[in-house]
Amino acid sequence: MIQKIKIIKILIIIFSLNLAFSANAQTVEEIIKGRKAMFSENYQNAKKISILLKSKRIEEAKPLMKKISDNYIKLLDYFPENTKEGFKTEALPSIWENKDEFNALMKKASDDMIKLAKAIDTAEDVRVVQKELMWSNCSACHSRFRAPH
Ligand code: HEC
Repeated sequence: MIQKIKIIKILIIIFSLNLAFSANAQTVEEIIKGRKAMFSENYQNAKKISILLKSKRIEEAKPLMKKISDNYIKLLDYFPENTKEGFKTEALPSIWENKDEFNALMKKASDDMIKLAKAIDTAEDVRVVQKELMWSNCSACHSRFRAPH
């Protein structure tokens, strides 16, 4: 009898552990779609920043720069080994062959958005700093790590 109760207890523990894990683990589909959604959001915000800076609305542009910077940091966790293909991903295998370099580019892109938020206060030409600290990072990464589209 005691033996049986023990077995039932163990089964309950295993079952609840299982539930806890499956609640946390994102599926491959969720991860790939999740990173695409974050890149798209960054693109939308980057375009908004351009428009705001053109009309000298610097203070309104700053929170969007922070948002892009934060997204880049989150994106570091969105390229696990099991998400190399499927769900129309444009991620190239070179990402996983050069993971350190890819992550370094992502971190640089994130840091540069924070630098941009400071640089625009004193910049003579906002378009130049924006190109240097924002747009150039998109193409630097895409040219090596994203499939032509
Ligand atoms: C460090 C690398 C890196 C940087 C920096 C980067 N991207 Fe990307 N981007 C990628 C990768 C990799 C993909 C492909 C993701 C996928 O399809 O799984 C991508 C995909 C995208 C997509 C397509 C999303 C979709 O719905 O399929 C857009 C739009 C995009 N990036 C815009 C930008 C813009 C704009 C910037 C700069 C402001 C930027 N990216 C900076 C690596 C980067």
